[in-house]
Amino acid sequence: MPNALSFINADMTLSGACFLPITDDEFNRIRNLIYDRVGISLSHQKKGLLVSRLQGMMRNMGLSTFSEYYKYILEDQTGQAVIDLVNRISTNFTYFLREKAHFDFLTNVVFAQITSLLNTQNSRDIRVWCAGCSTGEEAYSLMILMMEYFGDRYALWDIGLLATDISANALKKAKAGIYSPEQIKSLPKHIVLKYFSQTHDQQWQVVNRVRAEVIFRSFNLVNPVFPFKKPFHIIFCRNVMIYFDKPTRDTLIKKYYNFTLPGGYLFIGHSESIDRSLTSYQYVMPAVYRRE
Ligand SMILES: C[S@@+](CC[C@H](N)C(=O)[O-])C[C@H]1O[C@@H](n2cnc3c(N)ncnc32)[C@H](O)[C@@H]1O
Repeated sequence: MPNALSFINADMTLSGACFLPITDDEFNRIRNLIYDRVGISLSHQKKGLLVSRLQGMMRNMGLSTFSEYYKYILEDQTGQAVIDLVNRISTNFTYFLREKAHFDFLTNVVFAQITSLLNTQNSRDIRVWCAGCSTGEEAYSLMILMMEYFGDRYALWDIGLLATDISANALKKAKAGIYSPEQIKSLPKHIVLKYFSQTHDQQWQVVNRVRAEVIFRSFNLVNPVFPFKKPFHIIFCRNVMIYFDKPTRDTLIKKYYNFTLPGGYLFIGHSESIDRSLTSYQYVMPAVYRRE
């Protein structure tokens, strides 16, 4: 006996809305373009996801086939078409104090280690990079944590926190630093009261003195060159490499290593791993690595 779903055409959703058809060749061309430009590796299982994320925009643009869309991206000289594409396919999911063990480890071990190392070097410079910062929650978690840790001594250090992402939409949200009550619920109440102010429409905005300390920039991690003048003490790149294939991840880890100061740390997501046979980073604890 046929079940209910067998009456639904493969190109239709349950609500009856038609999916734009995509051929294997079109999918492969767009998939390769995404991989070449941003390193995101889409499996064939992601075909439906790609169509559902792009078709509304394509219809609005008057494009009726994915070949037309592909041609449009190739011909776009401004780079905006690729940015729009990435904004649609990338997952920006994040939240404050995500994977809290990392933040506890920073407070309990890393900050003290780094400051005592800097004291021996007569340096005041602490450099942190949050790579793939999405809508800002991770970068603000780091900055608030540092402000809490250093307290009155914060001003005695020259602390720089660079937060980068490829998604223009995510960065715009990050810079504004405005979050719903639901989005700040993973933060302790005293932290919210100290570092956020309520807006007229019941949202919560990160206070100016914290926002001013975080530098948000657009940066594509598969860029062949890291354009930074100096290496970092702490690099966070969590839940980003999950979208990359192994060669892209291996290359990135190599570059991170070169941009980590001796004694500095790399934090990746708990569901991610790095090939320890290919790196000189030392494993410290799950998803935490140190350059000796
Ligand atoms: C799931 S979010 C992770 C956010 C945060 N790091 C966390 O762990 O909660 C992944 C982020 O990686 C960004 N991303 C994906 N590919 C990228 C690339 N090639 N260069 C820079 N950022 C990228 C996406 O735009 C997205 O904001």
